[in-house]
Amino acid sequence: MHLLRFTGALALSLAFIPGAGAQGLVNPANEKKIDALLAQMTIEEKVGQLNQYSSAFDVTGPAPSAGAQKVMYDQIRQGLVGSVLNVTGAEATRKMQQLAVENGRLKIPMIFGLDVIHGYRTMFPTPLGEAASWDMAAIEASARISATEAAAAGVHWTFAPMVDVAWDARWGRIMEGSGEDPYLGAQAAAARVHGFQGKDLGAVDTIAACAKHYAAYGFGEGGRDYNTVDMSEQRLRNVVLPPFKAAAEAGAATFMNAFNEIAGIPSTGNAHLQRDILKGEWGFQGFVVSDWGSIGEMVAHGYSENLEQAARQAITAGSDMDMEARAYVAHLAPLVKAGKVDVKLVDDAVRRVLRVKFALGLFDDPYRYSDAAREKQALGNPAHAAAARDVARKSIVLLKNEGGLLPLDKTAKTIAVIGPLAADKDAPLGNWRAQAVTGSAVSVLEGIQAAVPSTTRVVHAEGVKLVTGPRSFMARSVINTTDRSGIPAAVEAARSADAVVLAIGEDAFQSGEGRSQTDIGLKGLQEELLKAVLEANKRVVVVLMTGRPLTLGWTAENAPAILEAWHGGSQAGHAIADVLFGDTNPSGKLPVAFPRSVGQLPMTYAHKNTGRPGPEPGVTWSAYTDSPNEPLYPFGYGLSYTTFTYSEPKLSASEIGFGGSVQVSVTITNAGKRAGAEVAQLYVRDMVGSVTRPVRELKGFQKVDLQPGQSREVAFTLKTSDLAFYTAAGKWEAEPGAFKAFVGGNSRDVKEAAFNLK
Ligand code: NOJ
Repeated sequence: MHLLRFTGALALSLAFIPGAGAQGLVNPANEKKIDALLAQMTIEEKVGQLNQYSSAFDVTGPAPSAGAQKVMYDQIRQGLVGSVLNVTGAEATRKMQQLAVENGRLKIPMIFGLDVIHGYRTMFPTPLGEAASWDMAAIEASARISATEAAAAGVHWTFAPMVDVAWDARWGRIMEGSGEDPYLGAQAAAARVHGFQGKDLGAVDTIAACAKHYAAYGFGEGGRDYNTVDMSEQRLRNVVLPPFKAAAEAGAATFMNAFNEIAGIPSTGNAHLQRDILKGEWGFQGFVVSDWGSIGEMVAHGYSENLEQAARQAITAGSDMDMEARAYVAHLAPLVKAGKVDVKLVDDAVRRVLRVKFALGLFDDPYRYSDAAREKQALGNPAHAAAARDVARKSIVLLKNEGGLLPLDKTAKTIAVIGPLAADKDAPLGNWRAQAVTGSAVSVLEGIQAAVPSTTRVVHAEGVKLVTGPRSFMARSVINTTDRSGIPAAVEAARSADAVVLAIGEDAFQSGEGRSQTDIGLKGLQEELLKAVLEANKRVVVVLMTGRPLTLGWTAENAPAILEAWHGGSQAGHAIADVLFGDTNPSGKLPVAFPRSVGQLPMTYAHKNTGRPGPEPGVTWSAYTDSPNEPLYPFGYGLSYTTFTYSEPKLSASEIGFGGSVQVSVTITNAGKRAGAEVAQLYVRDMVGSVTRPVRELKGFQKVDLQPGQSREVAFTLKTSDLAFYTAAGKWEAEPGAFKAFVGGNSRDVKEAAFNLK
């Protein structure tokens, strides 16, 4: 069935659709130049454009052997390499580019890609952390700055944004996305694409974005990385695809496919995803790059007999560029010559790659991104640090604050800063750190020291180490489970302090690619340290630095105050101090729930009601016998140093017709004594559908600043199109009937009103 559908979609994707899909990518003058180039290219040169190698840097995968590198350099000289990843720096990229344009017959510039995920040199919070800000302007600014730095260092293209919705915190890559919700994820995806690509992809400070991993990579069974996915078309369309569609609509120049299979078809060989939906329905005009080696992995999947068949299946399904499987360069030209692959497929893929190179201006000047002077200036720009601090403090979520322990008094006599992450200048940089300098983050200790007056004594004790051994992308973290020697000193430091800040959580490389875990509690001796410290001093603020939500059990019950600071980037310590002392009133909200236990996973607030939602007395309803269904901290949750109250929501109408809209308004009051910002959230439930609908779905949010005592009315407009979903009839549309609207400060604590769609 996929093959049949694919024929139609190819016709569509080859058609000239000005401005469709990736904004501004299709430019009539460039299309003519591409025609002329295609007419001159041999089949080998065409395939070369679809061939991407990793440079020698051991950045995001095993460094290629010396032999493989020689092959790469030889092929670059022959014009047989369209792209290199993991080459960076103005000088290195210039040299690499020279090889292609000075030696290649047609002098076609290469495009250089890098994982610029949450910063290039200046690190911002991990994407999950940024999503906790619910501040799209801040997220866009972060991507804009990352692009400015990367572009000046010769990078043309980032493999970001990662837009995978994820319901399972066991999956280490949850740190790279925007959490559990497709709506929030779609907003963040668009913001990031706008940030990376700016208004004009042709400007020298913008880089091409790449929406990944297409698709459903976040739904691997058991939360295990690279694992099998099997899901309905409804879930795919309603949950997984919205952020991808938003990225395409925002103009993302490229997509990356995914390692996982869906319903037995690897994403890389999936014509339904790449041809029917992406290039067909959405009219995407950019190119799709495979994930690292994923074309070759179709052999391991048991979908391809060998690399040659994998190459044929991948190009047929719409994978345009081969990242490091070396399948296209080895097999595509012979396959075309043997009549086994239609050259039109290759031409279409090459056209898409060239389109992006033209849009980046690489044909005007292949070296325009590799500018040593601009690189120096961009990488040392103090405004970037200020922006990183701003995003980091907006990302921090206050999870608990018993007895108003926070904010702390800066002028206290003694503050003890304890824990394995307290003085750690590396963990805050997080995983996927591009060209950040190892150990360059502001630590919590440094942030606190800088914030307090000289009369305040700051004492430090590590307590326990979290990891021992190497800390890098390629190394598995080894957790310290035996060395308790530092605990007595930590207890001593705590005893005499007015307050304790305990920095614990995850090392940078405990989450990220290949870091799935069956236990997402505090690892090693951290809880033991907390217990010992709490016995000496009850005034303990736990500062969590994590890539993913953790199961906090004992900690959540016993620590009086908890801040989730994620891996907050280069300025993490300052941002944390801003919040600890109340210079910033925290306003972050969780983009993904913190479960009570791993046994609850996967979970989402937007679950279905089931036929037995309960709660009922007895046992025969959809529940656990040993745990509540609800998470510890729900999606959208986050406290403030003030309190906000919500009025009952008012609707502008109780009935709307198709094409119409309804306004949902609510008055929010700052009932406390401090100024603060609240993220008001609008959820909807479609009571009956041709396929069942979730109990709640986020449809809007607004951040409002309120002075103490101040009230403000917040109005959301719900259009019919906001109520649309992928129906049983396979259409994206709203269905008539009863709806509920909910407004509140998180997905659990809401007030509701009802309306009808006629
Ligand atoms: C594999 C990862 O899955 C992908 O996200 C990344 O962009 C590539 N490696 C390149 O580093």
